Amino acid sequence: MIRLSFELDRMLISEEALQSRVKELASQISADFTNKKLVAVAILKGAVVFLVDLMRCLDPSVELHIDFMAVSSYGASTQSSGILKITKDLDVDVKGENVLLVEDIVDTGLTLSYLVRLLQEREPSSLKVCVLLDKPDRREAEVQVDYCGFSIPNEFVVGYGLDCAGMWRNLSSIYVVKERGELA
Ligand code: IMP
Ligand code: MG
Repeated sequence: MIRLSFELDRMLISEEALQSRVKELASQISADFTNKKLVAVAILKGAVVFLVDLMRCLDPSVELHIDFMAVSSYGASTQSSGILKITKDLDVDVKGENVLLVEDIVDTGLTLSYLVRLLQEREPSSLKVCVLLDKPDRREAEVQVDYCGFSIPNEFVVGYGLDCAGMWRNLSSIYVVKERGELA
């Protein structure tokens, strides 16, 4: 029998590069929402680290509110199941609000395109999408991304909030994960 396990392969984006890009994204967002109310909606759990760093870099002139949604898309494997279920909905009503959807990564685009459609139905006054990472090679559903941190190759990555079977969210840099098959 072959037992599959995962291990960290190599660093893809350093902590310094992440921090400086997050600052740049925050400046863009601050410029777009100066003196406006903005409801940042982060997708649990992967976008938590990104949201926390991003919000601390936003200009105080942005009236920032935060909320969270959770969807189930990936199981313990690195493949998208394509099945989406809202496991935690927003606490606030976003009708008439400026909403910023904050996500860790856009891969096939199925998750974000679904969430964008869902939130549009709630009639926000504007809806923008901010992702830390974009894997354009795997896109199946089109998503308009307004603020993007890094475009990355089609490899499974962890760290800075992103996980592989629940592991490695706490790494402050982003690493590529390698799958290893062992005879058991
Ligand atoms: P999509 O629906 O295929 O765009 O997938 C988006 C979701 O899949 C993200 O919110 C992540 O939770 C997860 N995901 C996609 N690629 C990766 C990866 O390389 N590392 C960790 N999670 C990933
Ligand atoms: Mg996610």
